[in-house]
Amino acid sequence: MISSSLQTTKPKGLHAAIIMDGNGRWAELRGRPRVEGHRAGAAAVRRTVEAAPGLGIGTLTLYAFSTENWKRPPHEVNALMRLFRNHLLSETPECVEKGIRIRVVGRRDRLDPSLVAAIAEAEKATASGSKLYMRLAVDYSAQDAMLRAAAKLRPGPRLNRDDFARAIAEVIHDAPGTPEIDLLIRTGGELRLSDLFGWDSGYAELVFSDTMWPDFDGNDLRAAVEEFRGRKRRFGALPQEDARQIEAARRNGV
Ligand code: FPP
Repeated sequence: MISSSLQTTKPKGLHAAIIMDGNGRWAELRGRPRVEGHRAGAAAVRRTVEAAPGLGIGTLTLYAFSTENWKRPPHEVNALMRLFRNHLLSETPECVEKGIRIRVVGRRDRLDPSLVAAIAEAEKATASGSKLYMRLAVDYSAQDAMLRAAAKLRPGPRLNRDDFARAIAEVIHDAPGTPEIDLLIRTGGELRLSDLFGWDSGYAELVFSDTMWPDFDGNDLRAAVEEFRGRKRRFGALPQEDARQIEAARRNGV
């Protein structure tokens, strides 16, 4: 069960999630090792977190490492894990000051104990932050989360969406009540979702950016939010105006 001491109020505002892609290509284009792209990516994380609250974002999910990224060469995996740990250790004091609540979502059973300890520290220190709920997805994939959640549940006619959402939150160490994703951004020019956020992005608006993640900044985030604000969201229903026209046409026998 999730420790109740880490639960706070339900986040308000937009939930934006970002698939931070393009670190490797950014480095390779500069003739540098891929790990340098990841280091530059950490600076982009800082810029993005700083810009998010001013754009009406209340929850920001950053996809940092998927369950499949363990297949990368060990030196790249190790460098990423070190980067995550150092980032949590160095950013936590500023996050406390700025009211940013950190949560690392995903599996923890395959992470190094020193990273698990840094996660626990960061989550505890920032638990009362209410300006931004920042979720970092590490050793996460939607299919893995859904499978493990399903294994915990007793199937049957009484099982509902809320039960399943709660079971997923529990297996990925999320706080209950995280709103579903409104805006899902992928940088780096690829047009796929890579097994991410399959449950909670059911009605997300998708924005694909050609910007490589290390170059991403507050202006790119603003542009994505503006594109989102210009979209019409229907959640499977019809906008009022369309619904009226369809009803009038039906009455006229059209
Ligand atoms: C995908 O780009 C990126 C990753 C698998 C790692 C994401 C990590 C960071 C942004 C580093 C810093 C993060 C934190 C939280 C400190 P890729 O390497 O697959 O790029 P490519 O498609 O160009 O090869």
